Amino acid sequence: MTYYITTPIYYPSDKLHIGHSYTTVAADAMARYKRLRGYDVMFLTGTDEHGQKLERRAIEEGVTPIQFIDRIVDGIKNLWTTMDISYDKFIRTTDKEHVKAVQKIFKRLYEQGDIYKSEYVGLYCTPCESFFTDHQLVDGKCPDCSRDVEEVKEESYFFRLSKYQEALIKHIEENPDFIQPQSRQNEMLNNFLRPGLEDLCVSRTSFKWGIPVTFDDKHIVYVWLDALSNYISALGFMSDDDTLYKKFWPANVQLVGKEIVRFHTIIWPAMLLALGEPLPKQVFGHGWLVIDGGKMSKSKGNVVDPTVLVERYGSDAIRYFLLREVAFGQDGNFTNEALITRINADLANDLGNLTSRTVAMIEKYFDDGILPVIQETNEFDESVQALIIDNVTKMEQNMDQLFLNSALENIWLIIRRLNKYIDETMPWILAKDVANRAKLAGVLYTLSEGLRIVSIMIEPFMPRTPDKIWAQLGIERGELTAWDSIHSFGMLPRDVQAKKGENIFPRIDIKKELAELDFVETKDNKTNKEDKISKEDKISKDASIVENITIEDFSKVQLKVGEVIKCEKVTKTDKLLVSTIKIGAQTRTIVSGIAKYYTPEEFVGKKVVVVTNLKPVKLRGIVSEGMVLCASDDNGDLVAVGPLGEMVAGAIVK
Ligand code: MSP
Repeated sequence: MTYYITTPIYYPSDKLHIGHSYTTVAADAMARYKRLRGYDVMFLTGTDEHGQKLERRAIEEGVTPIQFIDRIVDGIKNLWTTMDISYDKFIRTTDKEHVKAVQKIFKRLYEQGDIYKSEYVGLYCTPCESFFTDHQLVDGKCPDCSRDVEEVKEESYFFRLSKYQEALIKHIEENPDFIQPQSRQNEMLNNFLRPGLEDLCVSRTSFKWGIPVTFDDKHIVYVWLDALSNYISALGFMSDDDTLYKKFWPANVQLVGKEIVRFHTIIWPAMLLALGEPLPKQVFGHGWLVIDGGKMSKSKGNVVDPTVLVERYGSDAIRYFLLREVAFGQDGNFTNEALITRINADLANDLGNLTSRTVAMIEKYFDDGILPVIQETNEFDESVQALIIDNVTKMEQNMDQLFLNSALENIWLIIRRLNKYIDETMPWILAKDVANRAKLAGVLYTLSEGLRIVSIMIEPFMPRTPDKIWAQLGIERGELTAWDSIHSFGMLPRDVQAKKGENIFPRIDIKKELAELDFVETKDNKTNKEDKISKEDKISKDASIVENITIEDFSKVQLKVGEVIKCEKVTKTDKLLVSTIKIGAQTRTIVSGIAKYYTPEEFVGKKVVVVTNLKPVKLRGIVSEGMVLCASDDNGDLVAVGPLGEMVAGAIVK
């Protein structure tokens, strides 16, 4: 039994936000679930590394595209480690094997006539790497990101997408599970497929950062054709060793955000049809995590950093929130308040209390914290057991349809029922009379067994918590933690030995946390939300906020030695000097507020340390392309910082 699940491959971005984590966490929960069910799982994720946008950013920063990307990809992998993402393979579209596979795919499609050469005239949105026709634009701008589009005219290769229109419609109609949820299926059929497909331009000559077409190397392969191929190149498609491809393709589920369903249910299957390969069994288009109704994006300054949240509340809590809050397929709103409210209500109150109360009562009422094996049932047991087994079945059905939030609801129905059972059976009253020992033991057994079942069911979503519960119930990983053990009630041996441990989800002081989170995010997003924080909150925070950064944070700052080769005063100000600074083969113009400390003549010839990847800013009409590091003290003295020994301009400071 194999199971192949993929996420989209991510654009390298210095700051993947909580919305990005959503796709990956969802795929991870499915991968973990299928592993628990005994499947041989392949879970693929990775990075989409070609395209004009990245080429431009690398040029801006004075590095090669791959130097620029390598640094970011490390950050992305670290984020997935932080979020406990258990991917089996991480593909980069700059991997040699991928490049070769794309070149072979392109050539095969060309040789069989599915790709042909012609001329393209059209409107291109660089950030989205997408072409649009005139009537697709909204107010003359890109319909997806509202930015300007550019007119592009170039000799190009085209993919005969139109040829596959009928076959695609037929496939979708005959396979209702192919595009899920249903609403996205209708959207694809009615808005794109039935109105008619046009052939797709699949090569570029206007920039270089892409996979060269082997038989015409002034062309590079269109980034979506390149990117979509990752799902099969990662398995060795068209390589010398295609064992994985034979084993795992077609994918069971390809999970994508709603805005890229179109690429995955039209272009991608058409490519596969042209190659004569089977189509994925399902493409699932999930909704977005939004902030105040709008998509999170760096340009809007409303991104939420998942690492900050994980550091504060742990990855299990964040994973739980993401998958619980958003009805899979629809959009869900993110607020810090909703996050903390859920952590407190569902995790600290419901699950945390069930665990701590069960374990504490066994320890308190029975010697050595061990339940006696002579136990009696009560009038609530039968219905509790039935509810548990019913929700196990429903949870499994929901998982198979990727209704992850409904699956979590099933688990929480059990948790809440067990908490209610405590109130109904009132163990503290039973404990008062020795004649009720067997009854009391029976109640605590039902709670322990229920909790054991719950702890297994939450594992795909919250991989760290089960171990903590098992330690408190005296269970070791094995038969008693296997998925099959939850299909009937009563697998747990009667002589449960409880051992109180740490509180699995401590309650959070919501007011204090909200203020602190607001502060951290505001700093990150560089808006002035800070003004909103009350004075008291600010005072209490100022004492505590000397934030540590990780080495990954630090590595985002690129520092280099520069040599000042020219310097003059900026007119109409007595504060600023504008310097021309040589850094390696390049020179940069940098404006610095140092005119009170250095004359231009003094500054020329100095070797200084420059921040080279700072976004350029305009100061007094001059574009400043970096920053000279200076040390300053409370007396108002300032000196520029430079290397202590001989060092060439351009050397990296790290
Ligand atoms: N590189 C393309 C995919 C190519 S696949 C062959 C891409 N990359 S992305 O980095 O922009 O997005 C990766 C995934 O993150 C997408 O599924 C996207 O929908 C998802 N999300 C980005 N922001 C999101 C939210 N705010 N909420 C939920 N998911 C979001 O697209």
